[in-house]
Amino acid sequence: MGKPKVIVTRRWPEAVEKKVSELFDATLNTGDTPLTVAELQDALKTADAVLCTVTDKMTAEVLGVDGKQAKMLGNFGVGFNNIDIEVAKAEGLVVSNTPEILTDCTADIAMTLLLSVARRAGEGERHLRGGQWTGWRPTHMMGTKVTGKKLGIIGMGRIAQAVAKKAHFGFDMKIAYFDPYLPDPDAVNKAMDAESRGSIEDVLADSNFVSLHCPATPETRHLMNAERFKAMQASAFLINTARGDVVDEAALVAALKAGDIAGAGLDVYECEPDVTRELTEMENVVLLPHLGSATLETREGMGFRVVTNVEAFFAGKEPPDRVA
Ligand code: DGY
Repeated sequence: MGKPKVIVTRRWPEAVEKKVSELFDATLNTGDTPLTVAELQDALKTADAVLCTVTDKMTAEVLGVDGKQAKMLGNFGVGFNNIDIEVAKAEGLVVSNTPEILTDCTADIAMTLLLSVARRAGEGERHLRGGQWTGWRPTHMMGTKVTGKKLGIIGMGRIAQAVAKKAHFGFDMKIAYFDPYLPDPDAVNKAMDAESRGSIEDVLADSNFVSLHCPATPETRHLMNAERFKAMQASAFLINTARGDVVDEAALVAALKAGDIAGAGLDVYECEPDVTRELTEMENVVLLPHLGSATLETREGMGFRVVTNVEAFFAGKEPPDRVA
């Protein structure tokens, strides 16, 4: 049998594309243009594995195409809400993702947003670059102190725990969280002197910062809605590095306008790459273009992780990061 045929849907770091081309009969996307529905369907019909990523919407329409040759989807990303997993399973497709490797870098971006929004870093930079800075003065751009404050976390998986450690050990922050699925809360509580709370509202009530770390599922869609923003303190900030779907973006805009919360730091959006225009006009909002895992080390690591899974699959073994 020849090498398995794989189609890579977007540009990957050079070292990984090299490896993919050595190991497989690979078609790369050197132009990096997202594939259309028809192109994704065609990829499924012509390749043994499609190496897709978070921007590829692998819907029932795409996955259900007749005449599929593909047996596997190697997703470049830990989040796999871009794939209709139930349909993938029903269509007999094996799916893998890239956990762990991006934990620290995504946690770093959460801390970047938290610090930036609290200390008005984006606003300050715009102010200086815009030539408006007239010099130091005692009341200029006073922000909110971070050290020692309470960080509320919704969803206490790997990335959340990394954020909590950085916040607790680096900034002496107190950690409170809600996660009904966490297997061993006592271990987490002990490791960073954290408090497990009985409901999301319990976390929102007294947190100075609220950081979201749950996957995008039907259960978590619009988990942060108008009522929940009202349940936060008016001086508190929302941080989202999870998925845009978890936040009702229109309700967030309304909450910011009404002063229900003090600001937000966002890396992900409901309709990426579109961002609600009002958010881009608010000084108390820090906006990043989905950069959570965007370091060379991590993106290479994610790519190699996909390769490991695809290699295992075609060697007749269980892919280590199989999610379906
Ligand atoms: C992921 O892997 O799910 C991330 O969102 C990409 O940074």
